[in-house]
Amino acid sequence: MRIILLGPPGAGKGTQAENIKAKWDIAHISTGDILRANVKAGTDLGKAARKYMDEGGLVPDELIIAMMESRLQENDARKGFLLDGFPRTSGQAEALDGLLDRLGLKLDAVIELSVADDVVVKRLTSRRVCGCCGEIYNTEAKPPRVDSVCDKCGGEVVQRDDDTEAVIRKRLTVFREQTAPLIEYYRNKGILMTADATGAKDSVKALLEKSCGGK
Ligand code: AP5
Repeated sequence: MRIILLGPPGAGKGTQAENIKAKWDIAHISTGDILRANVKAGTDLGKAARKYMDEGGLVPDELIIAMMESRLQENDARKGFLLDGFPRTSGQAEALDGLLDRLGLKLDAVIELSVADDVVVKRLTSRRVCGCCGEIYNTEAKPPRVDSVCDKCGGEVVQRDDDTEAVIRKRLTVFREQTAPLIEYYRNKGILMTADATGAKDSVKALLEKSCGGK
């Protein structure tokens, strides 16, 4: 199964991706996670990406496309993949089409997670993540059992640098201008499904399982 999760920041892409990945045993490929790992490791890619990420803008297409061309050809992606945060521009979507054509692969579905801006701002200002394993928490809905300590790995649970209200609002604007047009792009290909991501995590999970189950 090859799926794209499309949606604004805070729609719950990372949260739901973990469920889908576990159920269908496919690779979860998050461009945001790969970029943050590069920033942390101080690679050339991380150094180039950091300023765009901190400001809530998009990292240039040529960097992202090169990164994903190699990631999608790694072994674990052969059994199927779930893309979280990619593509985000029409240039990235066209590059993905070209790569999949060359590899003889097809997308099964693009799932749009739809949610209102005020819900996004509330979710992201209260989001915390484990700096070691990436487990996602929320100070209101899912705090770690011990303050600032990851339940899973004992790592430090922190707030992402781009989860301030001003940067979240910039990310929402960037989503509307550069990523939202992809909804129409994939609708025209006949593979778009839309799920209301406003409800509780388990109800969104049930909606997605229903959508993917038909594939
Ligand atoms: P990225 O890491 O992809 O960030 P994003 O798309 O802004 O998405 P988020 O990770 O903020 O949100 P999410 O939808 O995964 O929500 P989550 O599940 O965590 O990208 C970061 C940056 O990297 C970009 O700004 C850009 O600079 C760069 N970048 C990445 N990809 C790029 C690309 N392709 N091209 C160019 N640049 C790129 O949930 C959020 C919170 O809500 C959590 O606390 C969670 O517990 C809670 N929550 C989730 N679902 C629910 C629910 N149903 N009810 C209540 N709470 C919920």
